[in-house]
Amino acid sequence: MTFNRSSRLARREFFGCMVAGAAAVLVAGTPFAAWAQVITATPNVAGMKIAMIGAGREGSALGTLYAKHGHPVMFASRHPEQLKDLVASAGALTKAGTVEEAIAFADVVFLVVPYTAVEQIGKEQGKALSGKPLVVDVSNPIARRDGEELVKQVNDQGGAGLMTQKYLPGAHIVRAFNAIGASTLAELSEKKGEIGVPIAGDDPKAIGLASALIREVGFEPVLVGGLAMGKYLVPGTPLSGAHSPAEIKQAATGLK
Ligand SMILES: NC(=O)c1ccc[n+]([C@@H]2O[C@H](COP(=O)([O-])OP(=O)(O)OC[C@H]3O[C@@H](n4cnc5c(N)ncnc54)[C@H](OP(=O)(O)O)[C@@H]3O)[C@@H](O)[C@H]2O)c1
Repeated sequence: MTFNRSSRLARREFFGCMVAGAAAVLVAGTPFAAWAQVITATPNVAGMKIAMIGAGREGSALGTLYAKHGHPVMFASRHPEQLKDLVASAGALTKAGTVEEAIAFADVVFLVVPYTAVEQIGKEQGKALSGKPLVVDVSNPIARRDGEELVKQVNDQGGAGLMTQKYLPGAHIVRAFNAIGASTLAELSEKKGEIGVPIAGDDPKAIGLASALIREVGFEPVLVGGLAMGKYLVPGTPLSGAHSPAEIKQAATGLK
């Protein structure tokens, strides 16, 4: 490409775009093993409001953890009136609402529902979700709960990361916390960065936000690849369970 010599502004804009594009390519196009890394970007996420869509075992554990670290959290489910006990135990920063109310309330959204619900949530709330800077996809397709047929469909689409993106077009998705059990979250968070959370995403800004939010509750994010790598962020893969960041990077080597 050639530039008009007098067009310095255009040149600066071009190189600015190249830098942004390179970041995107690093996430989406580089062979996985070559760039598995610990994210270092740290935007200020203190006090960000969080929608916890799904307030069962994992959603209630995550929401309680974020409230404990100073985040206003709105728990949401199809039956928010049943979440009174959870709100009472999770503390004054939490409340319950409908899915729509929680998304409207929040700066960032966590999706912590059975995978069968993701398509429906996308149909009903896709536009609102696409306006958020980050949707953390904690949901997993699990055959015994969601059915063999759904799991096959997800695999045919390249795995949970790409499928969630299909269900939520335009959303800035990062998969995270997918295979750290609800019952261990609070205890592991006390280890202050010793435990890694593998994450996968295609959007550099969303990855930066997710990374800062993960650090805030005592874990260390480890970017393992673009959303296509989200297929490994499910229970039963080498990346599931509680591991150090170094162990996650090691386990991720060779996966693609
Ligand atoms: N449990 C874990 O240790 C763990 C760890 C990592 C990841 N995950 C993943 O996190 C997700 C949730 O797991 P879980 O164990 O927390 O499940 P769970 O205990 O069954 O809770 C599911 C939650 O989702 C809500 N929900 C279901 N359908 C919904 C819909 N259409 N719209 C809004 N809310 C809906 C449920 O409430 P209502 O039925 O009242 O709507 C409930 O609050 C799963 O995809 C799972 O694989 C779980």
